[in-house]
Amino acid sequence: GGSVADFKVADLSLAPFGRKEIQLAEQEMPGLMALRREYGPQQPLAGKKIAGSLHMTIQTAVLIETLAALGADVRWVSCNIFSTQDHAAAAVVVGPEGTVDNPKGSSVFAWKGETLEEYWWCTEQLLTWPDGSGPDSIVDDGGDATLLVHMGVEYEAAGAVPSSAEDDSDDHKLILESLRRSLASSPTRYTDMAKSIIGVTEETTNGVNRLYQLHKAGKLLFAGINVNDSVTKSKFDNKYGIRHSLIDGINRATDVMIAGKLAVVCGYGDVGKGAVESLRGQGARVVVTEIDPICALQAAMDGLNVVLLEDVIADGDIFITTTGNRDIIMAEDMAKMKHNAVVGNVGHFDNEIDMAGLAKVPGIERIEIKPQVHEWKFADGHSIIVLSEGRLLNLGNATGHPSFVMSSSFSNQTIAQIELYTKREEYGVGVYMLPKHLDEKVARMHLSAVGAKLTPLTKVQAEYLGVDENGPYKPDHYRY
Ligand code: NAI
Repeated sequence: GGSVADFKVADLSLAPFGRKEIQLAEQEMPGLMALRREYGPQQPLAGKKIAGSLHMTIQTAVLIETLAALGADVRWVSCNIFSTQDHAAAAVVVGPEGTVDNPKGSSVFAWKGETLEEYWWCTEQLLTWPDGSGPDSIVDDGGDATLLVHMGVEYEAAGAVPSSAEDDSDDHKLILESLRRSLASSPTRYTDMAKSIIGVTEETTNGVNRLYQLHKAGKLLFAGINVNDSVTKSKFDNKYGIRHSLIDGINRATDVMIAGKLAVVCGYGDVGKGAVESLRGQGARVVVTEIDPICALQAAMDGLNVVLLEDVIADGDIFITTTGNRDIIMAEDMAKMKHNAVVGNVGHFDNEIDMAGLAKVPGIERIEIKPQVHEWKFADGHSIIVLSEGRLLNLGNATGHPSFVMSSSFSNQTIAQIELYTKREEYGVGVYMLPKHLDEKVARMHLSAVGAKLTPLTKVQAEYLGVDENGPYKPDHYRY
């Protein structure tokens, strides 16, 4: 391939280290490697411009290079200001065939520790190819790229960008600024862009929620594939992934002993269940908060105390939010915590922990222990330790989920992108799940690597169950 036209990463000289880790990851990502072998010769993504906004890690590097191996022209940003692994970003720009002096990989705009302004600048670059055109499809994680396009179209139709945002988050203000500039220089940019986008494949629970909300409001502009709710995504990445990466983040950030501590996990969904196992595995005493009676009952039957935050606020040593909801731990809660209690979030956005409120507490002092680890000292002299400024701590303080589980998630992503391009007539405006046979295919691709031998279903058994011998083996309503 030719040289990379444009990119912005922290340090291109980190590429050789990144390449070595990518090679280690490839061995641990059998699904992605199998898809390269299966679809490489057909090139189903040939010439397709794919824009990805998803944590720029080593695992994501293997996804990017898989999409490129199937023919795609890929641009990438991270979907979080702290989640980029700079050696991964550098290696993707250099590419498997390039050198640091002559990079030949993909255009990446991502570095660890972006400001929010830089984050939205990167997202603008993501959507603008060197010839001025936009993407043919999006890979999104949390929906920020999709959100920018949709807001752009809305304000272009209105001919103006509102002077203040409906929510007062810094993100929203920055999006409005970006769109104000865009409207002034090219008033139909996003409208034209949206027309040529065939769809988005969305990675996470929060992003999928946004897609369903957009569709319900009649505002969705293209197809959305809900990758999160493939069983081989949410029941694996969200659960087993966090089981691995939550304590990794806590350990690298604080190295505090987890055994014996009282850990409070807010939310007992897929991520919450993994978080609880992670902490219990270290010997913590774990309690859970929930709003959903089904998940609360599950937690109780799993042997956990289901409590109100206010009842454990003064006793908890470690507080972890996993809800995907807002306003879970407020400043007044943090004021009541014991000295050096650790507070962190693994839900997608940074509004689970009230960081804005914390900064406004009279007399509070913020002391940086190291990047992404802050002591907040209250006027009465007691402190709490906040990880990754309230953003995803497993990616901010550690390196996110390990390769093997991400192979499962990203195999779904790759298959979803292939679906969009090869079966366009089946994916009009709407939000879709991948068919179950593809979910089963992803699982199948990972079995031999974990030494699992699948029992073949006999013809007679298949008839007895009323399923095909080759699957799908379960009805769509089955919950696993
Ligand atoms: P989920 O919907 O399965 O679980 C969230 C749970 O939180 C639900 O059971 C809900 O009832 C509960 N909840 C909501 N409001 C609550 C409140 N006020 N108090 C207590 N509990 C409350 O969603 P899932 O898949 O577990 O995802 C959770 C979040 O984690 C999302 O933001 C998702 O995008 C993110 N995520 C993060 C990952 C990471 O690597 N850090 C990986 C995968 C997902």
